[in-house]
Amino acid sequence: MITSFLPVGAACVTVIGLWFAIRTAGKRSDLPYPPGPKRLPVIGNAFDIDLKEPHVTYTQWAKIYGDIVYSRIFGQDIVIVNSERTARLLADQRSSIYSDRPHSPIYRLFGTHRMTPVLEYGKEWKTQRKLLHLSLRHDVIDRYRELHLRSAHELLKNIQQDSKNFYNHFDLYTGSVALEFTYGRKVDGKNDPVITMAAGLADIMAEGMTSERAGLLTALPILEYVPSWFPGASFQGEARKCRDMVTSFSDYPFAMAKRQAQEAGGLLPSFISDMLGQGEVEESDAKETATGIYLAAAETTASTLKVLVLAMILNPEIQDKVHAELDAIVGKGVLPTFEDRERLPYLQAVLYEVMRWHPALPLGVPRATTANDVVDGYYIPKGTLVIFNTWVMANNEYNDPERFDPTRYLTADGKLNPDAKQDNSKFFGFGRRICPGRFFADDALWAGAAAILSTFRFEKAKDTFGKEIEVEPVFRHGVVSHPAPFQCSIISRTGGECERSQLP
Ligand code: HEM
Repeated sequence: MITSFLPVGAACVTVIGLWFAIRTAGKRSDLPYPPGPKRLPVIGNAFDIDLKEPHVTYTQWAKIYGDIVYSRIFGQDIVIVNSERTARLLADQRSSIYSDRPHSPIYRLFGTHRMTPVLEYGKEWKTQRKLLHLSLRHDVIDRYRELHLRSAHELLKNIQQDSKNFYNHFDLYTGSVALEFTYGRKVDGKNDPVITMAAGLADIMAEGMTSERAGLLTALPILEYVPSWFPGASFQGEARKCRDMVTSFSDYPFAMAKRQAQEAGGLLPSFISDMLGQGEVEESDAKETATGIYLAAAETTASTLKVLVLAMILNPEIQDKVHAELDAIVGKGVLPTFEDRERLPYLQAVLYEVMRWHPALPLGVPRATTANDVVDGYYIPKGTLVIFNTWVMANNEYNDPERFDPTRYLTADGKLNPDAKQDNSKFFGFGRRICPGRFFADDALWAGAAAILSTFRFEKAKDTFGKEIEVEPVFRHGVVSHPAPFQCSIISRTGGECERSQLP
């Protein structure tokens, strides 16, 4: 990816060198920056970070430098926050400074700049959060339970019919619940036009909006205006395609929802039905807010379910305990409903442990400071990119962190620990920008997990000699981290012939 920028970058190198030299010359306070790795002139720590797995580099730095680590890449100040205590201090108590997102021209270039997760901390973000709150707040979330259960049953059917593709079925499950929540219209399987559109947009964003490109465009905003015919400017073509897709994805499902709202039957409970019911909401605000939901909701939730399956394969004795709890409380072959949830503490503890063991967003979503600040005697300049490193928090703040152990969230007599929910909340972020979809995600995860674990047993696949194929957990890290496809055997628990199937 980065290579397509190089000729353009080379043409500008002298100007940039000077610009960085000026920007990074001298410090802007007498106080020290937080401790951090030694920086080279101009490029800073650009070559010190493992771009594929930045959380690994940050973990090493956390061991050496502690709670707050400072680094710089070219002229960009970066602070990595490695403890929950400091993250909460900054995000909750100094929220007016720590609630912005980094400003990168890549968002406007690719047309995603009006989506909630990347919006700057200002009027438009506040409007969007207010609208999301109307439909996602804790006291209204129960009305989507029928949607979660119905979609989870659809997930079971899909796995039963075609278990090789269980990965895709998880994506369809979480994509469908996200879209039905947003637009109030039932999704018609994997060939539904809105699912196809949403998945296409997610793909082009993942391919085109790489962190290298975001970094280069932030360092060299002029690249945004380089014409597509210029050598190395192929990103312009991808960006145009992405912008067009964002526009279609914004217009088409919204227009469908509006039409359906006027027809007999109308819309199901949803974000858009709430918006259309509120006379004073601007249509464009509702539409823009809706556009960002799928992208924030689908992959994070699907990745968490895939981690659950991986954890069950690697820890069969824990899976046995989930099955035993389900069979004792709900009954073998009976699908749980939300009424059973409180009586299934072990299943809940497993879900909390899944999110801790491999958080879907190991580095959260980056923030940016809107003013100079001083933390524990260290200077943090305005415009610093702030990373709340939940990966390190999930490791440093627990005993034997690599072990998958749901009992961390249980009391000695097997009840859910009263602090478990609060402890888990850091995986949804902090302060004013905490994930607005966390209650919805929590229900979607529970419904999916309860359905698949009551119906199936997940095991290591076997080779032709009947020997188990070892599974080495491998994770792919984009913005969302998710397990690379792994071999797996899915066995029906509901009686009759066991169906065994493996990923190719
Ligand atoms: C397991 C699933 C999910 C996880 C782990 C997750 C996690 C997160 C995290 C860590 C953030 C950044 C918070 C921060 O900056 O402190 C975030 C933001 C966000 N999430 Fe989620 N999320 C999940 C599911 C969902 C769902 C289902 C929805 C919508 C229905 C959603 C909507 C959003 C939105 C709109 C933002 C941007 C908030 C803002 O910038 O103000 N997420 N999420």
